[in-house]
Amino acid sequence: MASGRDWREGFVELWPTTFVQRRLADCEAPNQELLGLVRDMERENRDLTTDYRTPDLFNRDHPAVNWLRAGVNDTVVGYLRHIGIDYPIDWRIHGWPSVNRFGDYHDAHNHPRAYLSGTYYVTIPKSREKLKTRGDLRPGCITFYDPRPGVNMTAIKGDPYVNPEYTVTPEAGMLMMWPAFINHFVHPNLSKQIRVSISFNIVLKWSDDYLPDQG
Ligand SMILES: [Fe+2]
Repeated sequence: MASGRDWREGFVELWPTTFVQRRLADCEAPNQELLGLVRDMERENRDLTTDYRTPDLFNRDHPAVNWLRAGVNDTVVGYLRHIGIDYPIDWRIHGWPSVNRFGDYHDAHNHPRAYLSGTYYVTIPKSREKLKTRGDLRPGCITFYDPRPGVNMTAIKGDPYVNPEYTVTPEAGMLMMWPAFINHFVHPNLSKQIRVSISFNIVLKWSDDYLPDQG
């Protein structure tokens, strides 16, 4: 375990929160297939978006799902390497589609009992209804919140603690992944076009090798 006891002179970046965002290549054809699959699933289950525990989207042998599973696994490998994990990790992906229609949003939440969480975007509305609303709305965006409440309280311009939130305007083909403890909020869809995403959890298959060294 790193500690101040083996200190070296210099600056130390403490308590990082690593987030990854990437665009999966050649996503257009798989996205069409995923959209069809999600709409088929929705016909079977009208509460698809809120009843997220079943069915598990990734537990299917379907070409587009296999394509997305490979993209997610590849992203997990890169993420773990980036944060410095240099020993074998075993995980499973549990995923579910979300279909947001006009006005739909998702309250701030995190994903208990997962190690990492993420979202892949299948289709994002290109239009927006003309409504008399306040000007600072960010329809369809996703906002992530600093897991350290209040660190922005005394921040000054230019320091890294100023912004307690990070907001992204998603696009089709984009995959994001973050530690499962990060709270995030999905802003309302203000389009008559649907917004379809696939959320997932990376759940570790436990091994005692994951226990941190105590020293
Ligand atoms: Fe979520």
